[in-house]
Amino acid sequence: MSYVLLTGGSGYIGSHTALALLRAGEQVISFDNYSNSSPESLRRVEQLAGKSMVQIKGDVLDADALAAVFKQYPVKAVVHFAGLKAVGESTQKPLWYYETNVGGTIKLCQVMAEFGVKNLVFSSSATVYGNAQNSPLPETTPTVAMNPYGQSKLMTEWVLQDLQRSDSSWNIAVLRYFNPVGADASGCIGEDPNGIPNNLMPFITQVAVGKRSELQIFGSDYPTADGTGVRDYIHVTDLAAGHVAALQHLSKGEGFDVFNLGSGLGLSVLDIVTRFAAVNQLEVPYQFVERRPGDVARYFADPSKAKAVLNWQTEKTLDDIVRDSWNWQKNNPNGYN
Ligand code: NAD
Ligand code: UFG
Repeated sequence: MSYVLLTGGSGYIGSHTALALLRAGEQVISFDNYSNSSPESLRRVEQLAGKSMVQIKGDVLDADALAAVFKQYPVKAVVHFAGLKAVGESTQKPLWYYETNVGGTIKLCQVMAEFGVKNLVFSSSATVYGNAQNSPLPETTPTVAMNPYGQSKLMTEWVLQDLQRSDSSWNIAVLRYFNPVGADASGCIGEDPNGIPNNLMPFITQVAVGKRSELQIFGSDYPTADGTGVRDYIHVTDLAAGHVAALQHLSKGEGFDVFNLGSGLGLSVLDIVTRFAAVNQLEVPYQFVERRPGDVARYFADPSKAKAVLNWQTEKTLDDIVRDSWNWQKNNPNGYN
């Protein structure tokens, strides 16, 4: 019996991926320090899957704690979600971001190498495309970082590519996520941000549930069809399935590769708000405010490589996204607390 180890397994994307892997018949270990999540998500994943998983509290910067996992369990592959993800915070605390995101990945790879485990899926971000103007964006789009968070993802991609070049027995899939949203259709697991949400969808659901009075839409004068920012929103269940597909790909021994995980569809802030209100029959009060510094007008993925190579594409619709996001929030007004 061999295991798939998920660092950051109890977080938003990790918990949905844990569920997908358990349902695909895998044995799963979650390794998480719970700095931005709660073990309650894992309890619910086990309940939904009708199967248990190994749960370990630990920090990816702690090589001894990581080594103890590989010593105790036969691990065949690692999906590395653990990291810090708030763009604004990364500009205030860059050293913490580089230490955790870049340093944590290096430590993880050193321990993996020590134990001869060389299959890795890494959570990168479409933020590495910076201000690219020519959507849909293929993986060959030039990369550029706009802030320490983006820089930490880009640096980690380079570290992983160099590692694989130095030792071809490594198989590494870098997944560049576009905008993950939504929740498992059960409404039992979902996104549970600390404090005031930075991202659009949790902000909308918190307005709808009455925790916040109105949504501020950042900018109404972008060069887009309705003047609001356009993004590629991907349902987290589709994203989770992308990790299952990437792990299958790695098991064939494919070296280093990079994949966009997105829908290929650009939707505006107003598209999301309007559809959320219509499908869920709710009011979402909003007002237009200034653009948010650092925001890009419009970008979305060219996901054709993931389709061709991983045999993966998104299945969920915008209606699924807005319904499932609300279902989670309505059933869990205070998240996992
Ligand atoms: P999340 O914060 O919900 O999950 C990250 C998990 O890692 C949390 O459970 C947290 O407790 C854990 N963690 C943080 N630091 C750790 C450490 N030092 N040791 C062990 N565990 C640690 O975030 P998420 O949205 O699930 O994102 C997962 C990954 O995907 C991150 O690497 C993130 O940068 C990347 N990503 C996320 C998005 C997004 O919009 N959600 C977009 C692109 C990329
Ligand atoms: N927006 C609002 N009001 C809000 C929040 C967001 O109008 O309260 C708008 C933004 O201006 C943008 C769109 O909604 O046009 C999406 O914003 P998000 O903050 O949800 O997502 P971003 O595209 O800014 O960033 C996300 C992740 C980053 C990641 C990036 C690229 O949060 O971590 O995608 O992958 F780097």
